[in-house]
Amino acid sequence: MSSAPRVLNGLAIASDIKAEVAGEVATARSAGYTPGLAVVLVGDVPASQIYVRSKVKTCAELGIYSEMITPPATISTEELLAIVASLNARNDIDGILIQLPLPAHVDTPLLLDAVAPEKDVDGFHPVNVGRLLSGTGGDDLLAPCTPAGIMQILKRSAIPVAGQNAVVIGRSNIVGKPVAAMLINASATVTVCHSKTHNLAEITRQADIVVAAIGRPGFLTAEMVRPGATLIDVGINRITGEAELAEFFPPTHPEHADRRALWEKRGSTVVGDIHPAAFAVSGAYTPVPGGVGALTIAMLMKNTLTAARTRREKASRERK
Ligand code: GUN
Repeated sequence: MSSAPRVLNGLAIASDIKAEVAGEVATARSAGYTPGLAVVLVGDVPASQIYVRSKVKTCAELGIYSEMITPPATISTEELLAIVASLNARNDIDGILIQLPLPAHVDTPLLLDAVAPEKDVDGFHPVNVGRLLSGTGGDDLLAPCTPAGIMQILKRSAIPVAGQNAVVIGRSNIVGKPVAAMLINASATVTVCHSKTHNLAEITRQADIVVAAIGRPGFLTAEMVRPGATLIDVGINRITGEAELAEFFPPTHPEHADRRALWEKRGSTVVGDIHPAAFAVSGAYTPVPGGVGALTIAMLMKNTLTAARTRREKASRERK
């Protein structure tokens, strides 16, 4: 009989990182500067509003200055470019985050390219993407927050990466592609799978580490997993129906009683891209909620601090 899987507690790891950042922010403030983040939230997408509020709240907790800019959904690309240009020019703003998705009429790539690379705390600018891919960014690299959070979970949980087979499911610019680059930089053997991949289960069964980032509830099932593998679940999917609830959390399993009670109370619950039955055969896994999601904001705070420090170090070198 194999032993019970380890639960990789994202909340605890995020809390450690935030405490470290808060300490370094205090040092920066006593050295005479306060790291500052500007968040641009266009229109009124409810999920984006929730994320942004939580980013601003965390800034306040850690001593980081933050500012929210909330233009209406009708704003033009040109007007947004002007906002970005003014944020690029401000000395009290170290990080600029444009919450995605933007309205369809806005030229998203053009806008992301307009953010000064040294203020790009999302790590989406082509210069930072290039640095990540070439592995030349060092400790100052502004890398995408969710993938960076995944690497922190692996590192701080002492999960070996070098030489391991890692399979990434999903090829988005926000998660799949950058986490694949980070795993390669950490000397894993990486396979990236997606909706057109043939024989997906055959590939995932070879994996020591699976990162699932496709946005499909319970996509990775127990048959697709090698017993003992590490499972990293990036999915956040809300389920509401009773049939779905029974599929994920069958009433015959007493360990699901709490989750079923929560669903009764709220009428919905959140599940990841990995089925709970797959977690049960794993060696270690990140739960949903309470896994990867908790790290994204922590890494954004860390990037804001890094951006503040790097920009001041550069300015002081240039003055000499
Ligand atoms: N929307 C969903 N995830 C993200 C993220 O990491 N950054 C930004 N800017 N928008 C997002």
